Amino acid sequence: MSVEKTLAMIKPDALERGKQGLIIDRILTNGFKITAMKQMRLTRVQAEAFYKEHAERPFFDSLCSYMTSGPIIALVMEKENAIKDWRDLMGATDPTEADAGTIRKDFAESKERNSSHGSDSPQSAHREVPFFFSQLER
Ligand code: RTP
Ligand code: MG
Repeated sequence: MSVEKTLAMIKPDALERGKQGLIIDRILTNGFKITAMKQMRLTRVQAEAFYKEHAERPFFDSLCSYMTSGPIIALVMEKENAIKDWRDLMGATDPTEADAGTIRKDFAESKERNSSHGSDSPQSAHREVPFFFSQLER
């Protein structure tokens, strides 16, 4: 195992319900260091670019509308095995399939409005960290 960085987002549904503090507490309690963090509202163009791998999926239009419906918090998080450990802490995409104690089980509203994002591989983290943060910020 090596120290890795991963890109996380706290998604609009969680901010809408004021759950960002509880989610950040779980991040810190589980041993992640937050090396960069900012709140912003994505434009449609930014949301479409971030999720471009899903451009052909039936849920793409709805996903981009949701992701621009309110502010998000983007974070760079560092820890040994950060990429997989954050995916595990988030739980399955669909909260009805997520394990007990995961962020999506405890906070998500639906498969789409699922409160959090995490890079799914080192390649994704390499693309997603600089998507949000410059070299000086992270
Ligand atoms: P994420 O990229 O946001 O971390 O989520 P993920 O890997 O668990 O899931 P992914 O397949 O990459 O899907 C990206 C996001 O699109 C929404 N989604 N909606 N209605 C649907 O069937 C559906 N499937 C996916 C979710 O917001 C999901 O996190
Ligand atoms: Mg994904």
